[in-house]
Parts: sequence; structure tokens; C-alpha cells
Amino acid sequence: MSELISTVTAAFQSTYGRPADFVVRAPGRVNLLGEHVDYNDGFVLPIAIDRAAYLAVGSAEGVEAQIRAHDIQEAVTFRTTALEIKADAQGRSLKSWARYAAGVAWSLSESGLPVHGLKAVLTSDVPRGAGLSSSAAVEVAYATAWRQLGGWSLPAMELARACQRAENQYVGVNSGIMDQFASACGRAGHALLLDCRSLTWEELPLPSGLAVVVADTMVRRELGGSEYNVRRAQCEEAVYSLGTVLPGIQSLRDVALDDFNAHAGRLSEVVGKRARHVVEEIDRTQRAVTLLRSGDAVGFGQLMNDCHASLRDLYEVSCPELDLMVSEAQALPGCYGARLTGAGFGGCTVNLVAGSQAEDFTRELTTRYERVAGKRPDIYVCQAAAGAAVI
Ligand code: GLA
Repeated sequence: MSELISTVTAAFQSTYGRPADFVVRAPGRVNLLGEHVDYNDGFVLPIAIDRAAYLAVGSAEGVEAQIRAHDIQEAVTFRTTALEIKADAQGRSLKSWARYAAGVAWSLSESGLPVHGLKAVLTSDVPRGAGLSSSAAVEVAYATAWRQLGGWSLPAMELARACQRAENQYVGVNSGIMDQFASACGRAGHALLLDCRSLTWEELPLPSGLAVVVADTMVRRELGGSEYNVRRAQCEEAVYSLGTVLPGIQSLRDVALDDFNAHAGRLSEVVGKRARHVVEEIDRTQRAVTLLRSGDAVGFGQLMNDCHASLRDLYEVSCPELDLMVSEAQALPGCYGARLTGAGFGGCTVNLVAGSQAEDFTRELTTRYERVAGKRPDIYVCQAAAGAAVI
């Protein structure tokens, strides 16, 4: 972490010829349970992790945002007064990486908040496209920076919602609130149980003696964005069809498992599978929380395993490498549960492992995955970290 702070502050100095005024840290997240349910008003259980986006920031006169992505060595300047056109200060179409920053500026401005000119350099150790919310971390980092520069205040959840609006309406991915929420509201040593309908949450201490291990398959999702939007539309279709027999339902959150079983025949096979995953996953997450509270790692882990099978067979967002990583992990000593995390189609798995066996687990899983997949994975124990802040 301190290495990335030095990197980003040194890059700021050499880019702009002056020191940064401050650095923001905004973490990625890993989701323990509750996958693809946030946009169905369900419950999710993410933790903010000790991998983060670091943004070195300096105030600037005027309306220009000069931003640099250190990791890809690219820079863009855009005007905070002409964000709808999605163009840089020279009138060229905004590069996709810059749309996260510009989208946040747009969203904050839409909410009537002042967005000042700035100079910034970003670096991150959240791997991109790996299911750990690298883009939400970037969005939350910029929102935190503009909040600091503007001297205005906004509760962390509102900041997260502004970032989600940027992602939905500016970047064009119809994602739920989970990622931005976790990055903005994380708490060290805790998982966050969020009710995505009421947007209230509870911090649950992670039991001692357990390790959360993230395993990156090194496969990057290609179809991620478009398939994600398709899944979301299928859920809406299910609500529409079920609404004829279950009047008043607003989302799949309102459909009890028994009612779903009674009426699932009204849905096409594919939409029925998608909706079954969501209805069961909302129920599963609530049961899992009870188990977590009572320290039942075996029971909790079993529900993680069930979740993976459901994402693979019903929601169909897994891929061969994720399935391999999960089945190898589940066969190792000390592993309570393993499943893909995030949107899917590649990226990472999350594993709940006995702390005393985490080191052996990590080593053995690396060897086994590499042997079969022919790719060296990145596997590490992660810590639950605090949410975004000026550091
Ligand atoms: C992505 C989205 C989240 C959530 C997950 C799946 O990470 O950004 O809102 O829907 O996928 O649970």
C-alpha cells in the first residue's frame, strides 16, 4: 500500500511539476454471498478488500480536469462544464478509462454538487476485469476527491449512489449498487450485509480463525458488460410475467420460494432458470447470515458452494476456468466454501478457508490450477478493509 502511495505521489510530481495536495484510497471488494441479486432488491454480503485505487489529487483553477492513468501511461483532459458530450478538451471521443472519472463528475453535477477543476494521477492494485470492482474503486476515488476539493459533505451511501448513476447512465453498464457501496462504506475486519431495497446495512465481524482467499483465474471477461445487461433484462421479464399471478410484486425480492415454485411454469426455460437463481440466492444469503452470526463456517461454506452451482447451472455466468478453480479448492483441506465472485464470465473466486490452513491452501491451489489450466493464477489471503477516504 505505501508503495503505491509513493508511486502515485511521485508520478503526480513528475507530471504536474508540483506535489499533490492529497491522496485518496478507494478499495475493491469481494462478495461473500448474494450474487446477481443487488439489482433485484436482494441482500448482498461484500467486504471491501486491501487492494485499492489510489488517486493523487491537486486542485486546479478553472474547469479542466487533467487526469492521468499511471498504469497504462495515458492522460486525458476534459471540461467539467461539458460532460454530456463525452468528449475531451480537444473534442475527441472520451477514452473508455476516462469515462469513469467524467461520469462521476457528470453525476455529481447532475445532483447539483460543485465539481472543480483538478489534476490527478491514478494507480491501482485491484486487477481489472477480475470481478473485484476495479471500476467502482476508481469511481469512488474520484467522487471522494471532488468531495474533498469542493468542501461539501455527502453520506457515503449517497456518494456510492452517485457513482452507480455514473456507471449506469454514463459508462452504460446497468450494474447494481453493491460495488460502489462496498468501496464507499467498507469497514476493516467486517463484512457488510446490505439490504439493496432499503439501502440499510449492518456490519458483521468476520469470525477470527477464518481467512478469505481470493483466487484469480487470470481469465478476463469479454462478454461481461453485454451479458450482464441481458441477465438484468431477463430478471425484469420474470417480474413482468409473474406479476400477472402475483400482483403487486416490484422485483424478484417480493417472490417467495413457494410462490415461485407454484408459478415458474409461466416463464420460458431460460428466464425461469435466471429467476430461480435470484429467488433462491436471496433466501440463501439470509440463511447464511444466521450461520455467520453463530460462527458456523461449515454451514456458511456449504451455501457458498451451492451459490456457485447455481451461478454455473441456472444463471450461467461461470466459465470452465472458474469451475476448475472452484472444484479444486473445494477438494482441499481447510476449505469451507468456494465460488465465483462478482459478475462472472472469468475473474476471481472467493474461498472461505480455515486460517491455520490458508497458506497451504493457497500454495496447493496455485499448483493444481496451473497444472490443469496451463496458467499461473494469482491467489492470496485478503483482509477486510475500510472504505474510501483521504489518507
Ligand atoms: C457486478 C455489478 C454488481 C453486481 C455483481 C453481481 O459486480 O457491478 O452490481 O450485480 O456484478 O452480483
